[in-house]
Amino acid sequence: MKSQQGLTVIFQPDNRKAVVPRGVTLLEAARKAGVAITTRCGGKAGCLMCKVRIEGQDAAAVRPAGDAERRKLGSLLHEGVRLACQAAVWDNVTVIVPEDPLKAAVRRKLEAARRGEEEDLW
Ligand code: FES
Repeated sequence: MKSQQGLTVIFQPDNRKAVVPRGVTLLEAARKAGVAITTRCGGKAGCLMCKVRIEGQDAAAVRPAGDAERRKLGSLLHEGVRLACQAAVWDNVTVIVPEDPLKAAVRRKLEAARRGEEEDLW
């Protein structure tokens, strides 16, 4: 549902929301929602660190990928992957933000340690 003030972007798995005007990038919406998305290229489709996933019909809720994004992502585009710095919000949308790789490694180690599968944390 569109609000009077703009479009709602929901970031999962943290269920954070931002209301933004049409045309704002997912990266800008994430910042507004307080969601950390790593970048190194300053939003120029250069680093590929801002990959997010948009599933199902929500794929149509962001503008189609431009040349730079298509070149960078290739077949990942067909799997719902988008560059947050390039994908512009066109309708209400839910975006899945992948877990930071370092955090994921730490989480796996902690879970294994809790299960007693590893004696040392590192
Ligand atoms: S911020 Fe670098 S590719 Fe999006």
